[in-house]
Amino acid sequence: MQRTLVLLKPDAVRRGLTGEIISRIERKAGWSITALELRTLGQETLEQHYGEHKGKPFYEPLVAFMASGPVVSMIVEGERVIEGVRRLAGPTDPIEAQPGSIRGDFGVITRENLIHASDSEESAEREIKIFFPGRG
Ligand code: TYD
Ligand code: MG
Repeated sequence: MQRTLVLLKPDAVRRGLTGEIISRIERKAGWSITALELRTLGQETLEQHYGEHKGKPFYEPLVAFMASGPVVSMIVEGERVIEGVRRLAGPTDPIEAQPGSIRGDFGVITRENLIHASDSEESAEREIKIFFPGRG
């Protein structure tokens, strides 16, 4: 069993797509949401979360976008859930993402690509500690 940290980004919340996206995750056999919260993220949280991208040209606009409105943060648990949610999301650039994936169905520009999902077990544990310190 694995667990992963999923964020539904401010574009997903603003556009009323959280129910649709959560539903796609919930319907996967054996997966379950074990923590869920709606909140607007502060600079410190975002710096920790996206620290690997600090200094890249897209970093500052990314952080500004991620702080622009509330985000749904979740822990999802289940069999192969780390790779599985990444597959449901699709590639980072929504135009590259296949129709049928979350980014492929709803996204156009890379920054506003609706969803974050941890990319490895190490990232998942690190990110869960940032968003749900009680669950680390
Ligand atoms: P990254 O970790 O590479 O993508 P993913 O979310 O698929 O793991 O990048 C983090 C976020 O940064 C990405 O979801 C959207 C944003 N981003 C840009 O705005 N421009 C870019 O060129 C890249 C690579 C990412
Ligand atoms: Mg990433």
